[in-house]
Amino acid sequence: MHEWLANLPKIELHLHIEGTLEPELAFELAQRHQIALPYPSVEALREAYNFADLQSFLDLYYQCAEVLRDEDDFYRLTMAYLERCHTQAVTHVEIFFDPQTHTARGIPMSTVIEGIERALKEGETRFGISSQLILCILRHLDEEDALATLNAALPYRDRIVGIGLDSGEQGNPPSKFTRAFDFARAQGWKIVAHAGEEGPADYIWQALKLLKVDRIDHGVRCVEDPSLVAHLRDINMPLTVCPLSNTRLRVFHSMAEHNLKTLLDQGLRVTLNSDDPAYFGGYMLENMLAVQEALNLTQAQWRQLTKNAIDASFIDHAHQQRLH
Ligand code: HPA
Ligand code: ZN
Repeated sequence: MHEWLANLPKIELHLHIEGTLEPELAFELAQRHQIALPYPSVEALREAYNFADLQSFLDLYYQCAEVLRDEDDFYRLTMAYLERCHTQAVTHVEIFFDPQTHTARGIPMSTVIEGIERALKEGETRFGISSQLILCILRHLDEEDALATLNAALPYRDRIVGIGLDSGEQGNPPSKFTRAFDFARAQGWKIVAHAGEEGPADYIWQALKLLKVDRIDHGVRCVEDPSLVAHLRDINMPLTVCPLSNTRLRVFHSMAEHNLKTLLDQGLRVTLNSDDPAYFGGYMLENMLAVQEALNLTQAQWRQLTKNAIDASFIDHAHQQRLH
């Protein structure tokens, strides 16, 4: 089964590019830019990846992102991720980036987008990996900041497929961003939002009703509201589930307790993704192997997860047919 999973073509729909920063590259870039990281060595940094919850991860994730300064840093970060994708038979990726993490430090949006895009183009020609970019709004900041960020992204409107919502969920409900997402939809962008990761089922309802999302990122806490589960099934709403992330951030105590298989069995449109692979112990294949070991899915269920991801992707129908 391991070999079969390794060779299975894969689609990734929930991946934060800043979350692919491996400690080795973080230290190399820190040295290059003469920046101090909060830990003295690669080993000490890796040991700090023992998170109590989402916020304790985010604190470190934002600190490490400070080493990303110039276009070449974003290029190298993205290229390293695509090389991993190539070794794991990942054929299509939809990548989140967090511009506010960088623009707040004086780094222009153009530096971020152009560095990432240069790698994506190279990934397409060298490895045949197709890709899309999704700009994520940081929900711990206010709606004015979100609107300013969306306005600053307008020159890149056609190079971004959608807008997402990430960062600390508790206390930052989707309702805080209704106007920003109205604006995003009016630009023709697709909409996604992290909801029901640490936050309650009600945040999933809000993402559906107020932000009018095309996909829910995570969504695993939907099971706390049976009427929500029924609704998600009725509207065939994709959920981008991230198993290693959920166990590392203690949304579930262990992989054996993860509800991915239950959600699939309930007929929900579940996809499997890696979220922040450098921090959570693995990329697509490691996520699949951890799920397989704990939950023992059938080959038909794995095919279903891949089919769900193709159908939930933001690529045109003809391209989707080619991935099937
Ligand atoms: N949740 C919320 N925000 C994030 C995450 C996540 O899993 N990863 C990076 N930003
Ligand atoms: Zn995420």
